[in-house]
Amino acid sequence: MNSSGFRASLASDFERFKRALPRDFAAHVRAVYRINLAGRYLGEPLPHPVGKGSGQLSLNLNQLEIDAEAGLAFAVLKTVIAQDAAGTQSMSAWAIHESKMKVEQRSGGGGWTVTWKGRGWDRSFDEYLGLVRAAWDLAAAGQLLAVPSVKYHLPRLGEAFRDDEYAYTTRALAAAWGQSPLLLEKDFSPTLAGDPLADEKTQILRWLREVPQHIRAHADVRLAMKLMNARFDDDFQRQMMDAASSADALVVFNRLFDPVAGVAYGGSELSDRNLRVLDRPSARPPVRPSLCGTGNINSGRMIVAYAERGCSSVQLHTFFQLPLEEYPATEGSRTQRALHALIFDPQDGLIAVMLEREAAGTLERRKGELHFLDLVPDAYRPR
Ligand SMILES: Cc1cc2nc3c(=O)[nH]c(=O)nc-3n(C[C@H](O)[C@H](O)[C@H](O)COP(=O)(O)O)c2cc1C
Repeated sequence: MNSSGFRASLASDFERFKRALPRDFAAHVRAVYRINLAGRYLGEPLPHPVGKGSGQLSLNLNQLEIDAEAGLAFAVLKTVIAQDAAGTQSMSAWAIHESKMKVEQRSGGGGWTVTWKGRGWDRSFDEYLGLVRAAWDLAAAGQLLAVPSVKYHLPRLGEAFRDDEYAYTTRALAAAWGQSPLLLEKDFSPTLAGDPLADEKTQILRWLREVPQHIRAHADVRLAMKLMNARFDDDFQRQMMDAASSADALVVFNRLFDPVAGVAYGGSELSDRNLRVLDRPSARPPVRPSLCGTGNINSGRMIVAYAERGCSSVQLHTFFQLPLEEYPATEGSRTQRALHALIFDPQDGLIAVMLEREAAGTLERRKGELHFLDLVPDAYRPR
């Protein structure tokens, strides 16, 4: 098929998939367009690069089953606050309950954001372990890779890490996860960026350097660190990435923090900042850790922007939460409707933008196929 043939197929797929997206749409894309969408997250192969970031959309098994049914590539469970054997949580300020979320637009055309005052998992740790076991069953059945996320104790400079929290939480999660290594995200959240704890650059860099060893001391863990947007400049953001280089993957970067309103926010300011930081040169060693993009990903074009800056997968939250009329699809779950737009939109979907790169000569077919992972620069490409 030539490029006008692909364009015609895309227009027709976009229309007919508005009513129902095939679960294995990646296989369809490979067969029809000769485009291999395979991505990677935390060392695991994915059929395509789109996953769901930790938050209110991965709190229970029902949500995960709907995502599995939609063909989502992976999901990160809501962040749990670490505890020791007695149930003490040094970060308990993050375990607050708040159910109200408001999906709204940032002023001046700044994109969608979700305003929410809550923080981490607010039910018992045992309930969280139950969710992790259920997530493992889905992963083992090849339905959906769904991994836990933790916020562990972070000490002030001169203070020691509370290893009893690291030990108890990591061991319990490793036991709930069906095999070794445990795949795990460590969250450094935007509300942490707004906390006096994060006022000191040296303190933040110490956390990023030392947290991996405190987690890995207690179990075989493949670790993604989800970096916050600190309240410092772009150079410091890059220094944070370098300091975190012993992680297996970095999730770049969680939402911005508005100290006046006291809330985290997203939208185009977030993706502008993230992409700008990822454009800066780094002292980090190539290849490890791999990168997973997050922040205002609302189109295939935006997925490509993150991929061209090193991200071999992406994790979204806000785009899975829009009012239904914002999606071109007319039926299906929000996850299906979002995937439909991200992959099949004829102008800004992932297929359209990869074909555009091919036409511009910046992406080439290998053995007749275009590969999503070929968008990722060599130095970041997972091997
Ligand atoms: C309501 C809400 C709750 C969130 N909770 C968490 C969380 O518990 N842990 C975490 O690592 N990220 C959390 N996030 C961040 C998202 O996973 C995501 O990385 C971030 O919102 C940027 O992506 P987006 O612009 O697609 O929303 C949350 C985001 C929102 C909007």
